[in-house]
Amino acid sequence: MPRRAMYHVALDDEKIQGARFVLLPGDPFRSRLIAERIGSVYGAPVPDGPLAHNREYCTYLMDIRGRKVLVTSTGIGGPSTSIAVDELAQLGVHTFIRVGTTGVIQDSIAIGDVVVTTGSVRLDGASADYAPVEYPAVAHPEVMLALVRAAKSLAGTLGCRYHVGVTASTDTFYQGQERVDACSRYIPRRLRGMTEEWRRLHVLNVEMESSTLLTMCGALGLRGGCVTGVINTRATDRVGEPITAEHLRLGEAHAVMIGIKAIEILITNAMPL
Ligand code: URA
Repeated sequence: MPRRAMYHVALDDEKIQGARFVLLPGDPFRSRLIAERIGSVYGAPVPDGPLAHNREYCTYLMDIRGRKVLVTSTGIGGPSTSIAVDELAQLGVHTFIRVGTTGVIQDSIAIGDVVVTTGSVRLDGASADYAPVEYPAVAHPEVMLALVRAAKSLAGTLGCRYHVGVTASTDTFYQGQERVDACSRYIPRRLRGMTEEWRRLHVLNVEMESSTLLTMCGALGLRGGCVTGVINTRATDRVGEPITAEHLRLGEAHAVMIGIKAIEILITNAMPL
């Protein structure tokens, strides 16, 4: 087979050495953090630099229990996520776990907790290019179960709780998540009241990539899942609170540990595609 090379992620068959699992942070700087965590948990050597870094796509190649695992950042939002997922899938990657950060809209969920997504409300635009809007954005059951098992085993040690449920995935951080402190201080009528509506429909949280990822994985016959760490709460009495560095550190660290553990569970249980 001729060597396949992917333009945006700057990866090819040779570089990825047969990796079939990927952890997908949004932030390119989080790729290194995840590689370092994998290094410390499994005693794996951490490369001096990324395998590739082009635009928002920063990739490390790591070993977990004898299997090659990629860590590739997606950038923020559906369009850039779709490019990462499509190009990685073309290279043969079959299991995708988003490891991100999120804001919660339920009062019962705290900063530093983690959310394992069962399915996403498709408020994005990119996923409609892969499957019609009636198509559900659902996590693959094996990946979701691995994430829940990982969360259950680590939550006590990490000092957080985990929550399993539906996520809303938007295209915009300000208007789409009904942030009244946005530049215009005006939320278009279509979006006003959406936080309360999703809250009443038991949606747990909001972020910006899971609906694209999960729709694509379903439509392409791949396994997708999503774990996010809570860095912001839109609880009824805390709307408008800023995201602090400490909140980011906590949410990020917890989601990363659970994402890594889920990959280990999937690898060691040899859960088939
Ligand atoms: N990411 C989001 O999309 N929203 C938040 O509130 C936090 C992280």
